[in-house]
This record gives sequence, structure tokens and C-alpha cells, in this order.
Amino acid sequence: MATQPLILKTACVVGGSGFVASLLVKLLLEKGYAVNTTVRNPDDQKKVSHLLSLESLGNLKIFRADLTDEASFGAPIAGCDLVFHVATPVNFASEDPENDMIKPAIQGVVNVLKACAKSGTVKRVVLTSSAAAVSINELNGTGLVMDEENWTDIDFLTSVKPPTWGYPASKTLAEKAAWKFAKENNIDLITVIPTLMAGPSLTPDVPSSIGLGMSLITGNEFLINGLKGMQMLSGSISISHVEDVCRAHIFVAEKESASGRYICCAVNSSVPELAKFLNKRYPQYKVPTDFGDFPSKAKLIISSEKLIKEGFSFKYGIEDIYDQSVAYFKAKELLQN
Ligand SMILES: NC(=O)c1ccc[n+]([C@@H]2O[C@H](COP(=O)([O-])OP(=O)(O)OC[C@H]3O[C@@H](n4cnc5c(N)ncnc54)[C@H](OP(=O)(O)O)[C@@H]3O)[C@@H](O)[C@H]2O)c1
Repeated sequence: MATQPLILKTACVVGGSGFVASLLVKLLLEKGYAVNTTVRNPDDQKKVSHLLSLESLGNLKIFRADLTDEASFGAPIAGCDLVFHVATPVNFASEDPENDMIKPAIQGVVNVLKACAKSGTVKRVVLTSSAAAVSINELNGTGLVMDEENWTDIDFLTSVKPPTWGYPASKTLAEKAAWKFAKENNIDLITVIPTLMAGPSLTPDVPSSIGLGMSLITGNEFLINGLKGMQMLSGSISISHVEDVCRAHIFVAEKESASGRYICCAVNSSVPELAKFLNKRYPQYKVPTDFGDFPSKAKLIISSEKLIKEGFSFKYGIEDIYDQSVAYFKAKELLQN
């Protein structure tokens, strides 16, 4: 007799159309969860087609909600045991990061947490933060180890305003706002802190983070400069497979004793080190390896020791992350053989 997956729990995934969230929805459905997910516009076929195709996996309901509208989260969160708040406004090119990213990200966490508090059913909330909320500081040197105690230096970001400062500022301030609200309102909050992610995506469009991670292979100069900028600002090029990040979300959600922040980082590297690895593994793409006086070593490593100590194991290392990203780019006809 065929065994049906047991319906364990009901989870709400906020921002289901995104790169991370759509895979999280898939993994939750495969584990037997009933899933409510939110998107800003459920009528936008292009943005929801990949979610609609997950409906065959189980009990999936799609709701309309916007981070700036508290009331819109009442219906999708009602009756849920778990809430995964994954959505965030992303606009690296913004000329007004305060209004395009920082304010809506903070408003979003507070609105989602308010709806969780009102629901009377939500037992735990898992918020997707970012290594950008941990590692940005003015320290010099190499070999620094960043763990869950570390926070990005918000005074440095908001006074110096380095390129793309709005995104790390939004992630840092949103995570801080989430901790404050959760403590004041007795909400069991956990944050997952991922690094740059790659691996295949379910989304119709190729996510910008995979494009950034793949830039040394595609030779996109603008994105290679973006990757260098990331090393200079964040202190390292730290990468994880998107599936491991989604698995980590579910791991901390299900582990009763889990608490606090959890960094999720598979590999720490630098642009020159990564280029050397890619050049050797994929000689056909002629990955450049001469970066002049650009720092060959990362300033810091982002440590997942806490997550691993509590029983999580990464499924994918650097070889798998890139083999799968290369295969994905070939399937999308963005890369030749
Ligand atoms: N990708 C990475 O490498 C990476 C690394 C570290 C951390 N993270 C974090 O992981 C999470 C997911 O990232 P991702 O790469 O999957 O991003 P993504 O594909 O760009 O997805 C972002 C999601 O946020 C939603 N969103 C944006 N503004 C919204 C608003 N005002 N109201 C409701 N929803 C809104 C978007 O919904 P619409 O479809 O309606 O536009 C989209 O679903 C984010 O919190 C991000 O900071 C990502």
C-alpha cells in the first residue's frame, strides 16, 4: 500500500515567489506540511507560475500580501504553527535605499510578527536574515572569525554609505527590529543568516545572486566588479547552496531546542581563490586568475559552527554548488558547453 506523507503542520512562507522561498515551499510540501504562501500579486502569472506547479505536491494555498500592509498577513498566517519570513525588498541600484529597502524591510518584519502574535496559533517564526547583517565592519587584517555574536556596523554603513549600503543596512536593521519585537511580545523567533547563494532555481527568471556567483565563469565584467565589491565590503566571498539554506530553515524550525541566530555558510573564499578553483575545474570557460593587487585572501570567515554543532550537516560543498550552477546556466542557455 502506498504511504501518503503525514500532514505534520501548517507553515506560512512569506514571499513565496522568490529564489529561496519557492524552494522552501517545495521542500516543506515534500515533507508533508500544508503550506500557505504570500506573493504581492497572485494574478501575475510570470511571478507565480513556478508556485502553481508545486500545487501537485500537496496542500498549497497562495495569498496576496505586501510587507507594508499589516492586515494582509492575517489570512495567510491564521491557523499556522510556523511562519517563515523570507521576503525582503531588494534593489541594489536604488537611489533612495531608505524608502526602497530600509523602511519596508523593517515595517515588513514588524507587520509579519504582529500578525503572528495576533494569530494565537503560531509557535515559532523563522526570519531569513543575511551575512550582510553580520560581517560588515571597519576592522582590518585576515583570519577574523564572524559568528552569531557579530553584527554589521550600522554607523559605518550609514555614515560612509559605501556602494550598495542600503541592502546590508536594511537586513541589519530589520533583524534588530525583529529581535526587539519578538522579545517584547514573547515570540519564539529564530533567524537564519545565509551567505550568497547559488544552485538551481525554480523561478522563471535567473536570480541575481546566482548571476553574481557565476560571474567569473560567464565573464560578466559588471558582476565580477560586484563580486570584488562584495569581498571588499563584506570581508569574504562566502557561498552556500540554496537547498542547504532551505534545509537549515526547516532544521531550526523543527528542532525544539533551537534558539537565537544561526549562520548558514558552506564555503568561505575570496575572489582570487574562487577564480583559481573555477579555472581548474572548468578550463573551457577560461576564468581569469590575475587580479593584480586585489587582496588574494579574505579578511574573515563566516562560521556555521553553531548550526553544525546542533546537528545540521551541509549536503553541498563548493564543487556541487558550482557543478549544479553551471548545469543550470547551460539549461537556461546562458552558458555554452
Ligand atoms: N540570494 C542570496 O544570495 C541571499 C543571501 C543572503 C540572504 N538572502 C536573504 O534571503 C531572502 C530571500 O532572498 P532571495 O534571493 O530569494 O530574494 P528574491 O528572489 O529577490 O525574493 C525576494 C522576495 O521578496 C518579496 N518582496 C519584496 N518586496 C516585498 C514587499 N514589499 N511585500 C511583499 N513581498 C516583497 C518578493 O516578492 P514579489 O514576487 O512580490 O516581488 C520576492 O518574493 C531575503 O531575505 C534575502 O535578504 C539572500
